[in-house]
Amino acid sequence: MCGIVGYTGEVQAAPVLLKGLEKLEYRGYDSAGIAVYDGAGIRVAKAKGRLQVLRDLTQDGSLIHGTIGIGHTRWATHGAPSDVNSHPQVSDSGKFAVVHNGIIENYLELKEKLIKKGVTFVSETDTEVVAQLLEYYYKGDILDAMIQVLRRVEGSYALGVLCADAPDQIVAVRKDSPLIVGLGQGENFIASDVPAILNHTRDIYRLNDNEIVVLKKDSVQVFNMDKEPVEKKVTHVEWDISAAEKGGYEHFMAKEIMEQPKAVRDTISPRLRGGRVVFDEISLTPEQIRSFSKIFIVACGSAYHVGVVAKYVLEQTVRIPVEVDVASEFRYRSPILGPDTLVLVISQSGETADTLAALREAKRLGAYTLSIVNVVGSTIANESDDVIYTWAGPEIAVATTKAYSTQLAVVYLLSIYLGDLLGRISLEEYNSYIGELEALPDKITKILEHKDNIQYLASKFFNVRDVFFIGRNLDYAMSLEGSLKLKEISYIHSDAYAAGELKHGTISLIEDGTLVVALATQKRLFEKMASNMKEVKARGAVVLGVTTEDQKQIEKEADYVFYIPDACPMMLPSLAVIPLQLFAYYVSSMKGCDIDKPRNLAKSVTVE
Ligand code: F6R
Repeated sequence: MCGIVGYTGEVQAAPVLLKGLEKLEYRGYDSAGIAVYDGAGIRVAKAKGRLQVLRDLTQDGSLIHGTIGIGHTRWATHGAPSDVNSHPQVSDSGKFAVVHNGIIENYLELKEKLIKKGVTFVSETDTEVVAQLLEYYYKGDILDAMIQVLRRVEGSYALGVLCADAPDQIVAVRKDSPLIVGLGQGENFIASDVPAILNHTRDIYRLNDNEIVVLKKDSVQVFNMDKEPVEKKVTHVEWDISAAEKGGYEHFMAKEIMEQPKAVRDTISPRLRGGRVVFDEISLTPEQIRSFSKIFIVACGSAYHVGVVAKYVLEQTVRIPVEVDVASEFRYRSPILGPDTLVLVISQSGETADTLAALREAKRLGAYTLSIVNVVGSTIANESDDVIYTWAGPEIAVATTKAYSTQLAVVYLLSIYLGDLLGRISLEEYNSYIGELEALPDKITKILEHKDNIQYLASKFFNVRDVFFIGRNLDYAMSLEGSLKLKEISYIHSDAYAAGELKHGTISLIEDGTLVVALATQKRLFEKMASNMKEVKARGAVVLGVTTEDQKQIEKEADYVFYIPDACPMMLPSLAVIPLQLFAYYVSSMKGCDIDKPRNLAKSVTVE
């Protein structure tokens, strides 16, 4: 999604803005731009394409002078990627420059009204409407104009505004789109995400919806929609700068894959004390837990796939019926839930628009909401009744890896915790689950030590056209994730199927040389998977099997095998996912794809 940065301070703004935008590149974008006040007026430079195009255009920012400015990387929604549709968008007279993340839903209606009043539009964007409206309402006070505009626009937005009449300040606001304020010494910032400002400060404000910030180099004031001052709490970001750097790896994705043992350990360790699972952070009482007759899980993409694993795991350990929904479907299907329902919301960014909307719908219906989130203080974390943070650290690559693994870790912790509280697991099972959990990081390390084997397999298959991932039960959940990982970063078509479902249609797609990745980690279903491997091989498929070290009989069925260490069945997904991530990574690398920023994708999807 679009990235916003804003700077006001003592040094030249343009290079700071370009550096900040570079740190937001991971979010996905197709054009970039900056606007700087140069003493006489607002200078804008923007261009379709990579940030390098803008860098060349401005000679790394040196052609644009001034110590206050806003910058933007655009992920096109309204209007194709082009120079003119890039942000900043400027009002008719050039007085206002605006950067925007999100969607103004009623922009057409507003645009028509303004055109009737003689305003000329140059772009197809919804953002230009904001710039023109600001100018229309401006009577000498930017804050007043901003409040008027916010009363007229519908949709989601993070906005950064520069006005030539008040060149010492940036005015910014957010609603349903992330925006933080960075607090420096003699300089202040706005940004869509922390990495953009981490080189300058670690003290931030997280803005709530419709809080308007007026940013000057030596002051930051926050107001509500009634123009009353709002007291904000400073959040100190603990991240190491190196956490948001590649640290010698060729790609963030490679680094993040390798960070998984630490991320999983960091997520599990604080919640294990004296051999017991402890959740100090949640306020859910045992009485409330006993009152739940149903659990819903809502999430998108990979987080949804964690939800699919969670359904199997929770139903087995907690014995409460679980439904998993893709968040964008959940809110429009009139789900049946109420105070006896626990709604688990899973999100790395904590800002995904569909997931946030699902969370709000669940709350509206009276359910208890518990979120599993990576970004501290994000909207989903703030709005949930309870939040359990995954301690994965910043995840920069668009394709999630370490956040996924830490979400799984929380699912296991939560299942053991709830299962125990409801008396659904024995002491013996409890103790064995804890031991298995503690062993996970080392087992992940062991798999990562064999990454060359996966690289070899990738070299065999990086030219294939189609790949099918099949599995049963938890292995089916892993197939979903393996397939998504591969297709999103390598652009190879792939699909995931419950292995038993193949013969009901999909098997007709198998032909000579089709690659089938067969996940067969679940012992009790191994024989069934062996039959499915035979079925596809008989039709010409090449089978790459993934199973545990003790199930060597797979060699009778599969052409190639990757072994993972054994673990209790419910935790095998934490291990099985690693070769799938590595396979996608190496295939994508061999195809020369842009691994960290796959085409058309954004890291944090803040539009519905
Ligand atoms: C895939 C991927 C996406 C996200 C999805 C939800 O690799 O990263 O499918 O999982 O967009 O994002 P969050 O977890 O931020 O809500």
